[in-house]
Amino acid sequence: MATTERAFLSTKLAEFGTTIFAEMSALAARTGAINLGQGFPDTDGPEEIVEAAVEALRGGQNQYPPGPGIPALREAVAAHQRRFYGLELDPDGEVLITTGATEAIAAALLGLCEPGDEVITFEPYYDSYAACIALSGATRRLVTLRPPGYAVDPDALAAAFTSRTRAVLLNSPHNPTGKVFTRQELDLIAAHCRERGVLAITDEVYEHLVFDGRAHVPLATLPGMAERTLTISSAGKTFSFTGWKIGWATGPRALVSAVQTAKQYLTYVSGAPFQPAIAQALGLPDAYFESFRAELQAKRDRLCAGLEMAGLEVFRPDGTYFVTTDIRPLGEEDGHVFCLRLPERAGVVAVPTVVFYDDKDVGRPLVRFAFCKRDAVIDEAAARLSRLG
Ligand SMILES: Cc1ncc(COP(=O)(O)O)c(C=O)c1O
Repeated sequence: MATTERAFLSTKLAEFGTTIFAEMSALAARTGAINLGQGFPDTDGPEEIVEAAVEALRGGQNQYPPGPGIPALREAVAAHQRRFYGLELDPDGEVLITTGATEAIAAALLGLCEPGDEVITFEPYYDSYAACIALSGATRRLVTLRPPGYAVDPDALAAAFTSRTRAVLLNSPHNPTGKVFTRQELDLIAAHCRERGVLAITDEVYEHLVFDGRAHVPLATLPGMAERTLTISSAGKTFSFTGWKIGWATGPRALVSAVQTAKQYLTYVSGAPFQPAIAQALGLPDAYFESFRAELQAKRDRLCAGLEMAGLEVFRPDGTYFVTTDIRPLGEEDGHVFCLRLPERAGVVAVPTVVFYDDKDVGRPLVRFAFCKRDAVIDEAAARLSRLG
């Protein structure tokens, strides 16, 4: 961004420019390249859910819904948490509907943090975390995840806690690495939170995209964690409606209430006609969730094979839409430079993982590709990338 464009930007946001997703999607649009940068599917979710939204639009659900969300959706979220994880929630006070997970994350940090607090999160991190921690007046403390395994270093985790730590912000399954935190890692994080009286905020938007027979384990299900964890998720990824922006935050009344106080001054309410449709979606039979997972797992395998053929080092993900790679086997060093040139060289757009790291040396050679695309698109992208070598 040119200096003049930033002349009015608050110092709170001085380090944040245009998100990488906007930058790379604009590059894809300009060059006509295949966009494996941004994580949105190129096919819509179930037709019956679209019909439910149309019905709500035609049925007059077009004015402000209740602040916490319509009762049917709050009940559906509570039922989903019970059905998949055995978590018991009162839809009146322990469930809040938000404008996507993005707003829930922002409202959680704004509603729960004091200026001077510290929030621990893992790098590479989803970019809104750093910006919202900064907006809340808190400071981020990062624990670095490194390929190939992106494992949590227990010493680094312990060292990140200080007397100012307010919360751990955990994303599992994790974007951009595709890592699913192991039970051992979750236990360790939970033990620190319990011992130090620290809150947990979890971003579980990829909860239904966990592969190879693994299970998603919400941190809130671990002993002593339900009372200190705010769990966030959304409909975008699970039902392939990323543009509807229906999300939710669940947890103990006092946490949800703090988040709602912030949320009401951000958007007040969210997406009236989409709320009944997502309530219906959350009740879809197991077969929907199973086939969605199987489909994405097959797409992961398809793209990973293509990326390996193209000569990249591939870090096969256990979950999410994303696979990260190391470009050094191609004789390249800098992921940002590589991604800026990729549309011209190969007609494909990807995202440099370095933008999600504060530790630039770790992130520099890493590049993320999204596989939530039609098979023909993945195949074409792989064919184009194979010319790189
Ligand atoms: C880790 C993570 N959290 C949150 C979001 C945003 O979710 P929503 O679209 O529901 O706001 C994304 C979207 O890519 C994500 O990857």
